Amino acid sequence: MKPSILIVDDDRLVSDFMAETFAGSPYEVETADSGDAAAEKIAHRDYDLIFSDVKMPGLNGIELLKRIKKVSPETVVIMMTAFGTVRNAVEAMKSGAYEYLLKPFGPDEATLAAERALEHHRLVRENRLLRHAVAEKYSFARLVGKSAPMRRVYSLIESVADSRATVLITGESGTGKELVAKATHYHGGRKDGPFVALNCAALPETLIESELFGHEKGAFTNAVRQKRGHFEIADGGTLLLDEISEMPAGLQAKLLRVLQEREIQRLGSESKLPIDVRVIATSNRHLPTEIEAGNFREDLYYRLNVIPIHLPPLRERPEDIPALVEHFIARFNAENNRSAKQVSDKVLRLFEHYIWPGNVRELENYIERAVVVAKSDTLTPDDFPAELFTGGVRRQTETIRSGSTIRDMERSLILKTLEDQGGNQTKAADLLGISTRTLRNKLYEYGVKEAKPAEEQLTVDG
Ligand SMILES: Nc1ncnc2c1ncn2[C@@H]1O[C@H](COP(=O)(O)OP(=O)(O)OP(=O)(O)O)[C@@H](O)[C@H]1O
Ligand SMILES: [Mg+2]
Repeated sequence: MKPSILIVDDDRLVSDFMAETFAGSPYEVETADSGDAAAEKIAHRDYDLIFSDVKMPGLNGIELLKRIKKVSPETVVIMMTAFGTVRNAVEAMKSGAYEYLLKPFGPDEATLAAERALEHHRLVRENRLLRHAVAEKYSFARLVGKSAPMRRVYSLIESVADSRATVLITGESGTGKELVAKATHYHGGRKDGPFVALNCAALPETLIESELFGHEKGAFTNAVRQKRGHFEIADGGTLLLDEISEMPAGLQAKLLRVLQEREIQRLGSESKLPIDVRVIATSNRHLPTEIEAGNFREDLYYRLNVIPIHLPPLRERPEDIPALVEHFIARFNAENNRSAKQVSDKVLRLFEHYIWPGNVRELENYIERAVVVAKSDTLTPDDFPAELFTGGVRRQTETIRSGSTIRDMERSLILKTLEDQGGNQTKAADLLGISTRTLRNKLYEYGVKEAKPAEEQLTVDG
């Protein structure tokens, strides 16, 4: 499609000159001889670029500009202004004009201005499409699974997405923490701002610090030029601090201060910069345990843990497996030009009893491999690695598997007892030798119960 240009001027000499300049150009050019005539035109279609005179009888250039920005915000507007009206041109720039041309100007100036403006228009449009695509990509459509704990996660995301409150996402490796962080960003009011991630485990302390806060030229030996940190880059958007438990102690203190004061200081700088950033942290470690061991600051934990989102391991929500399988089959079909349809019933049964130490990521990898190598459109056990189905890793044997944590064991015991008692909490608590309140707290912690009764939120019960 040819880029479209509208030229608005009450002076016929100008519009004729412009029409002539663009004759034979790759643009589609129209003219209007007044602001009102132009307003009539823009009500019916969008132009990519509009050249407009400032002073016109009736609707003047500035008023026209405002109207254009309202009905077609992506249209680029260039004001054409005579020497005496430069002040108006400045006002026009403030109202969203892209540039102004001082009359009289020649054909080259007009052509160059059009090229630049159209390039700008293309970039703005591309950017919007890209953001839209990204937002789409991380919307809820991407998060698969309808189990009770996942539904609880979705409703949490929904209720916090629009706020700036700090979110702490916990869960084992591969449970979808990063996906949830992105969904939180792209679902909320910050979706048009940047989403910036920093993996705290991947860098040495000195580097993390300058990555986070930036530095001035000369702040340290290798600081040959000034650099903006992730906090600054994420301004107006979201900063994901991945694997926060790996953050060195010295930096934990600095981070705490930044979260409290909402200001950062580049390394080697005297002044502070205000920042507007939503922080999301993730951890696959149990932070209270890290606090007890002296590895993590308790005050920072409370700062981060404003909104906790816990992602349960896949073995605790086997009912999500069929939907995940279907989702990954469709994805890897598309990526590899294959046409797998399903996994066999046998595979599905085996999946539902497997312990999934690598959680959703592990499932994803197996499906990718199977889709690529499968000979038929139903994936059978032969298409998966044998160790997946050999004993020792089944869910049933989980209770006495070395490598489980005490916490995992406790959870298994509680859930199993409850199941055996047909869901009767009083009986189960009795057998377990704990109070029903403790039982309910535990269930809440595991994401089994939808909501915690209000009175219990005040109780510290163990
Ligand atoms: N609910 C889900 N629906 C669809 N895909 C998922 C889901 N959960 C996780 N995945 C996929 O599994 C993979 C791992 O997810 P992600 O990277 O978010 O996990 P993580 O918890 O951040 O892992 P780690 O702790 O190892 O960093 C990704 O490819 C992600 O797209
Ligand atoms: Mg991650």
